[in-house]
Amino acid sequence: MKKSINIGLIGCGVVGTGVANNLLNIESAERNLPCEIKLKKIADLYPFKERPYKIPVDLFTTNADELLDDPEIDIIVELIGGCGFALKVIKDALMRKKSVVTANKALLAEYGQHLAALAKQNEVDLYYEAAVCGGIPIIKSVREGLTCDAIENFRGIVNGTCNYILTRMGKDGMAFDDAVKAAQQNGYAEADPTFDLMGKDSLHKLVLLIANCFGQWIKPEEIYTEGIIGLDQTDIRCAEELGYSIKLLAWARAKDNKLECMVAPTLINKSSMLSGVCDAYNAVEINGFPIGRTLYYGEGAGMNATSSAVTADIIDIARNIYSGSVGRLPVFALKKEEYQLVPAPEMEMRYYLRWKTDDRPGVIAALSKELTEREIGISSVILHEFAKAQPYSIVTFMTRETTEARMKEAIASLNKLDCIQSKTVMLRVESGF
Ligand code: HSE
Repeated sequence: MKKSINIGLIGCGVVGTGVANNLLNIESAERNLPCEIKLKKIADLYPFKERPYKIPVDLFTTNADELLDDPEIDIIVELIGGCGFALKVIKDALMRKKSVVTANKALLAEYGQHLAALAKQNEVDLYYEAAVCGGIPIIKSVREGLTCDAIENFRGIVNGTCNYILTRMGKDGMAFDDAVKAAQQNGYAEADPTFDLMGKDSLHKLVLLIANCFGQWIKPEEIYTEGIIGLDQTDIRCAEELGYSIKLLAWARAKDNKLECMVAPTLINKSSMLSGVCDAYNAVEINGFPIGRTLYYGEGAGMNATSSAVTADIIDIARNIYSGSVGRLPVFALKKEEYQLVPAPEMEMRYYLRWKTDDRPGVIAALSKELTEREIGISSVILHEFAKAQPYSIVTFMTRETTEARMKEAIASLNKLDCIQSKTVMLRVESGF
């Protein structure tokens, strides 16, 4: 029986430094671990870089192959990021029968199925808790805690950067660009935050959540994705007035063998717990049978939260190796269902619509006519009165459920009306959860 499980860490940036520090300070006896977990080597191009924790320099090499070639290393931790060298590292590790821990959601969303097959073929583990919502043990909760349940739907705030920006716009009245700058100044957003703002990061996490919750692999390009770029302060205020906050939601729901999913900024009723998830926090709500509604909340990014998830994966795999139960859990879902993906235009939702219009009689009638003609019900109308000096009105409609296709068709006609001074702003409203 092995006395020590050896770890090779590839990539020692912010999260890698946290993981190295955790591993160097793990007291196996205190944590009731059956074996020693030893950080044997770290591969990083910058061994002498200033780091928030002191890591012995003799642990470092600049050559990742040294770790991959070392027969004594049992687990490779990939924290390089990206889909280039990181992919090669993970494949090489799996093919050499080393288990892998990664936080790389972009890579898993693209190559997850292939890597899962490779892990199975080589009888090793591939764990990735940190790839979805950092410190929230959401993958573990689904894979191990909800094994009894038929998951009906889930929705999550899974990108801390966007949630921070939306919180600043909502609570501090900031304009979108200023809120992005505030996120950068406070270390939440990357220097180029486009990937987060376009919803791509949420999309990758959604792919992994769907694979676990519904046992189905949906490719990122099959999922309708809308980010928060250009979201207007006016809509944050109008939503607030209607009793909603706007959150970037990644969601999926299954019904009658059909699966709907999407990433989009969405109006969430203020009475919902998700609406109270602010700043850079993440949360995922999962609804299943027989368990009912469950909510998972915590920090989704940063050194501490993410390194905690990576280290917990390392400990889990070490336990598997020690007890001879590697491969105990499949890489993705425990169940295998066959759902048919519903194309976005066929999905039924409620909508929020907003215009800047002329301030004259007949405007509301003209706007509502376009919806009525398409049998789209209206559930609320607000017309903001302005002083005579401002020759326009702000009008918001909330609609009843209708298909995305019908709504888009209505918007194309609405945008041609001569009473509107700005194109229709359309946002989705939570419904059916
Ligand atoms: N950019 C991501 C976020 C980091 O803001 O949530 C964690 O995936």
